[in-house]
Amino acid sequence: MKFTISTMKSLGLAAAGLQIAEALQLDVNNSASIRSASSTIAYGLMKYYVSNATGANPTAVGTLPGPYYWWEAGAMWGGLVDYYAYTNDMSYNPSTTQALLTQGNDDQAFWALAAMSAAEYGYPDPPSSSPQWLSLAEAVFNIMVPRWDMTTCAGGLRWQIFSSNAGYDYKNSISNGGFFQLAARLGRYTGNQTYIDWAEKIWDWSAGVGLIDRDYAVFDGTDLKINCTGVDHTQWSYNVGMYLHGAATLYNYTNGSALWESRTSGLLQASNIFFSPFPNATDVMFEPVCELASTCNYDQFSFKAYLSRWMAKSAILAPYTIASVTRLLRASALAAAASCSGPDNACGAKWYVGGFDGVVGVGQQLSALETIQSLLLLNADGPVAMHEGNVKISTIAPTSSLSIPDRTAAPTPAAMSRSAGLTPRDMALPAAAAAAVSLLVIDGSAATARVMSTSESSVSAASTHITSLSSGNTAAAAPAVTTNRNTGADSTRSEAWAGAVVVVAVFRSEFL
Ligand SMILES: *[C@@H]1O[C@H](CO)[C@@H](O)[C@H](O)[C@H]1NC(C)=O
Ligand SMILES: *[C@@H]1O[C@H](CO)[C@@H](O)[C@H](O)[C@H]1NC(C)=O
Ligand SMILES: *[C@@H]1O[C@H](CO)[C@@H](O)[C@H](O)[C@H]1NC(C)=O
Ligand SMILES: *[C@@H]1O[C@H](CO)[C@@H](O)[C@H](O)[C@H]1NC(C)=O
Ligand SMILES: *[C@@H]1O[C@H](CO)[C@@H](O)[C@H](O)[C@H]1NC(C)=O
Ligand SMILES: *[C@@H]1O[C@H](CO)[C@@H](O)[C@H](O)[C@H]1NC(C)=O
Ligand SMILES: *[C@@H]1O[C@H](CO)[C@@H](O)[C@H](O)[C@H]1NC(C)=O
Repeated sequence: MKFTISTMKSLGLAAAGLQIAEALQLDVNNSASIRSASSTIAYGLMKYYVSNATGANPTAVGTLPGPYYWWEAGAMWGGLVDYYAYTNDMSYNPSTTQALLTQGNDDQAFWALAAMSAAEYGYPDPPSSSPQWLSLAEAVFNIMVPRWDMTTCAGGLRWQIFSSNAGYDYKNSISNGGFFQLAARLGRYTGNQTYIDWAEKIWDWSAGVGLIDRDYAVFDGTDLKINCTGVDHTQWSYNVGMYLHGAATLYNYTNGSALWESRTSGLLQASNIFFSPFPNATDVMFEPVCELASTCNYDQFSFKAYLSRWMAKSAILAPYTIASVTRLLRASALAAAASCSGPDNACGAKWYVGGFDGVVGVGQQLSALETIQSLLLLNADGPVAMHEGNVKISTIAPTSSLSIPDRTAAPTPAAMSRSAGLTPRDMALPAAAAAAVSLLVIDGSAATARVMSTSESSVSAASTHITSLSSGNTAAAAPAVTTNRNTGADSTRSEAWAGAVVVVAVFRSEFL
């Protein structure tokens, strides 16, 4: 009997215990090939999105089913905004637009950054009765500003806002880096100095407390109980990526200032530790803290998506980095494509193994998608030209060039070790219980606020808070409907949404 790939597929591979498909074909020099691979992976990603199915709870629109947290859904929609912008494939636009407009969440930076990308890339605007992408992003910024906490550590956002939450005493990089990146992008996009001033202030604070060190390594967080005099030195790929995109944005906005050039270059250099885990996997991206030990959780599987996303966007803003970034992302994209050889081309978690490792999920799918689709941005025939109009500043020649040395050795355990006690991502689990979101709905005449608990399971007793916010010159809100997301008892939601301007307000100062 002649064994073909398809008979092997249908029989399964008993030895490996895995069904496999052929690896995704990917020619990194060919945009049509990159689009095709991206499309296959995006399709596999959207299979996880079931909250829009007939009969699904309407309050779940935009979210992913458990065990995925809201922030990851926001991150996913951001990836799909880019997917549309880079590939022009509109297949998922209806779901994406609906999700971005109807969901606020406790991890709001990722949602705000998705809205910011929509503005920057001219993603089709929602109906004029809904908030435009830029105003959504600005609204989130304006909600964050009063949370800047001067009572300890001379500033910074806390990870959590409720004292009952684990993480309340933690001021971390993803929260402050998210605020920094959002401020920088708003500043560049609008030219409004208020945002630039905030971006500089957040950077200075982050570096001041040691979240960013002299070598531009970005550490996970710091404890306000000790006035931020000590730092958890865990390095996750998305933390450095978050600050990198903000720094590159300011490099561009300042017409190539030496200050932001050195910061951009330094952060890119620092991201070197997330590549080349072994000599047989040069330039392949990995997550050092958890990947080699196979301990990554659902959140952590997705981090490579954001490092890829932000490295590629940074390379467009700071073109002197394109060669380095392209080299790293091409090698990673090829390895990611090779991992997408599970059932129906599902993507695996570890790209350095040269194939499918059998560990699938939203994070794996998103990481492969964002790494591969980023090549469209970097390739000469990519969509960048289409977006030049969003850059309102002149260009000057870079004053230096960056070269990232290859890394061929595995990271030393010492370099990767974390300081005592804190397991940053896991802290989100109990923390979710007390989260609350207020969605301020303004329909032009009346203002309605609704409060929903934003937490995942075990949240029925979540404390909810109502805030009144004003948005621009609109009226302040009055509370009207209180809904617990777990019961979904919100029969008036669809009416309330109709023609509404939705401003997302959130009661946690963190995004994770
Ligand atoms: C892609 O093109 C570059 C030159 O533009 C070449 O150096 C590289 O080998 C090509 N890569 C592949 C995989 O064909
Ligand atoms: C839900 O979204 C997916 C992905 O966009 C889409 O394929 C599916 O048709 C949608 N389902 C409904 C009922 O709209
Ligand atoms: C806490 O640290 C900040 C600088 O990070 C410093 O200005 C402040 O005085 C410190 N407060 C205490 C109580 O030590
Ligand atoms: C700049 O942005 C801030 C924050 O959104 C806003 O309050 C202010 O009105 C803006 N300034 C101008 C000149 O648009
Ligand atoms: C960048 O250069 C342009 C054109 O020379 C100038 O109008 C703009 O003010 C400069 N921006 C900054 C932040 O210096
Ligand atoms: C700013 O970004 C644009 C592309 O978006 C690029 O053409 C320009 O060279 C960048 N400016 C600098 C100073 O690198
Ligand atoms: C590279 O080496 C590592 C460590 O020995 C191994 O786990 C991995 O599977 C290898 N990758 C390839 C592509 O051979």
